[in-house]
Amino acid sequence: MEFKDVVNSRRAVNFFDPDKTVSDDSLREMVELAAKAPSSFNLQPWSLMVLKNSSDKLRLRKLAWDQPRVSEAPIILIVLADRNGWKEGHPFVEKNFKEMVKTGSMKDEQRQWFLDACKNLYGASKEKAQAFALKNTGFFAMALMLAAKSLGIDTHPMDGFDHDGVIKEFNIPENYWIPALIAAGYFPNGKTLLPPKWRKTFEEIVVKF
Ligand SMILES: Cc1cc2nc3c(=O)[nH]c(=O)nc-3n(C[C@H](O)[C@H](O)[C@H](O)COP(=O)(O)O)c2cc1C
Repeated sequence: MEFKDVVNSRRAVNFFDPDKTVSDDSLREMVELAAKAPSSFNLQPWSLMVLKNSSDKLRLRKLAWDQPRVSEAPIILIVLADRNGWKEGHPFVEKNFKEMVKTGSMKDEQRQWFLDACKNLYGASKEKAQAFALKNTGFFAMALMLAAKSLGIDTHPMDGFDHDGVIKEFNIPENYWIPALIAAGYFPNGKTLLPPKWRKTFEEIVVKF
């Protein structure tokens, strides 16, 4: 599928065919494509919980405004943004530094500079750490929905859920924030999509101050 067609045909769909599952191979491919999303210092502070079985999806639906697609979609992704994903000692911060040294974009002696830069940018306050986690994971989530569409899989991102309730119900460690839930699956035959939503124009988007 052409990139333009992927962008133009992606919709937050309201219905999913409950009998059509997303294969493990497709899920893997869509996640691996989305993993190409950019992130600050390549820290990639995102993770996903994948809910497939009905009882888990119903547990989540109770905490997600009873939105039917939460249990009807074959897969629900709980998108997780790691607020600690910039800290010294964090496994992916350490892995990232090693990889940067391996590929020549950092030298061993720059380690302290790198750790200080992360701390100054993201560790100065709770808000900074939250912004770090959410902005990077937002790019990942968008890439995930476009990757899904390119494979013929429809999605629906959702904010309508009890954040702290979901954290508690699914034993999610407190370093994570959930920017969205994403339902994924296939739009069913016999249903019609709602008309496309309005979008801001170029002139409305580009501003001067
Ligand atoms: C972060 C985020 C949260 C959203 N939360 C919900 C939600 O809880 N329920 C819902 O019906 N739609 C939700 N949406 C879908 C939007 O309403 C939808 O993307 C928007 O109206 C544009 O429609 P389109 O994606 O089909 O172009 C959410 C979208 C985003 C990006």
